[in-house]
Amino acid sequence: MLLYIHIPFCDSKCHYCSFNSYVDKFDRKGTYMESLVRQLHHDLQTYEISKHSIETLFIGGGTPSTIDPALFEPLFEMVDPFLQNGAEITSEANPNSASRRWLSGMHDLGVNRISFGVQSFFDDKLRLLGRAHKAKEAMAAVERAAALGFDNISIDIIYATMLDTPDRIEKELGTAFELPISHLSAYELTIEEGTPFQQRPEVRKESVEASRLIREYCEQAGFNQYEISNYGKPCRHNLGYWQYKPYLGVGSGAAGRIGHKRYYPHTTIEHYIDAPFHKDFEPLQASDMVEERLLLGLRSDVGVDRNILESPMQERADLLTEEGKLLLSGSRYCNPDFLLSDEIALFILG
Ligand SMILES: C[S@@+](CC[C@H](N)C(=O)[O-])C[C@H]1O[C@@H](n2cnc3c(N)ncnc32)[C@H](O)[C@@H]1O
Ligand code: SF4
Repeated sequence: MLLYIHIPFCDSKCHYCSFNSYVDKFDRKGTYMESLVRQLHHDLQTYEISKHSIETLFIGGGTPSTIDPALFEPLFEMVDPFLQNGAEITSEANPNSASRRWLSGMHDLGVNRISFGVQSFFDDKLRLLGRAHKAKEAMAAVERAAALGFDNISIDIIYATMLDTPDRIEKELGTAFELPISHLSAYELTIEEGTPFQQRPEVRKESVEASRLIREYCEQAGFNQYEISNYGKPCRHNLGYWQYKPYLGVGSGAAGRIGHKRYYPHTTIEHYIDAPFHKDFEPLQASDMVEERLLLGLRSDVGVDRNILESPMQERADLLTEEGKLLLSGSRYCNPDFLLSDEIALFILG
């Protein structure tokens, strides 16, 4: 079992981002955190979660580092008996709000992995993206986390912007690998509806070459690609999603999936605070689940179990195996080139 907790507050809104987050309503932080505890308590009971069965906890956002560690304490008290020994506990953080005090407070609560939204080590690109920090602050935040005892640190980078050139990609990753990180996520910029970038689609510069260069530099640094956008020491939580493990989703921007149902709590913060137990359920058809497992499995090291595919799909996957585009290891199809995953999945689905 995996657990995701959503924090819907940010200090400012980045030009590309459509995640559920508020840059106001900060006076609701306290009541929001109380509602998270209420939902968590309710869901642990409703879904009969056993003690020591949660293998990973991921606190994402929004920006978890906008919340004082003291406000996280009741959540950790509640979840603690349900966590496995050695559970991976990640929190996302922004470089500008991940102060020494915040980092050490989260470390004391048991967080053992930090994922920083760095996005770039170039100040002009950070400005283009509408980020609130400078490159130097991002480097200092990573160093600060390492000095406080975090030995599992990830950074997010965004690429495929109009400012990315092969030379700058090399420099950007060179800077990343000088830092004490164990993991890097490199996301291709997507233009999301309702964001300022929707009015400026020219900021995106799609480039297969950039994706291949990133993979090459990461692998040279010993960070192996284990998913289309992820390199280095695998994030057990995300790996769990791709392995299709069930997950609880707590908070106004969270989703959960238990059995054949996905659920969504209220997305508006006021509604969530008033009714944290409310969920909209989405039933999942067996065919939807196969499609999802195929797409997720082919984008990552997880691969796809042959036995979940219907025979026409198996035949098409076998054809790709004969052509060397897929590898069959035991009963699992593995994809040797994640950059081709969507094309391969579409071919298998027919
Ligand atoms: C919830 S945010 C990260 C945490 C934190 N709020 C931060 O930004 O520092 C997760 C990550 O998604 C990525 N992301 C969000 N919107 C994106 C987009 N439109 N295109 C590509 N990556 C995006 C960013 O790299 C971001 O760090
Ligand atoms: S990228 Fe992170 S900081 Fe920026 S708006 Fe999205 S969630 Fe907030």
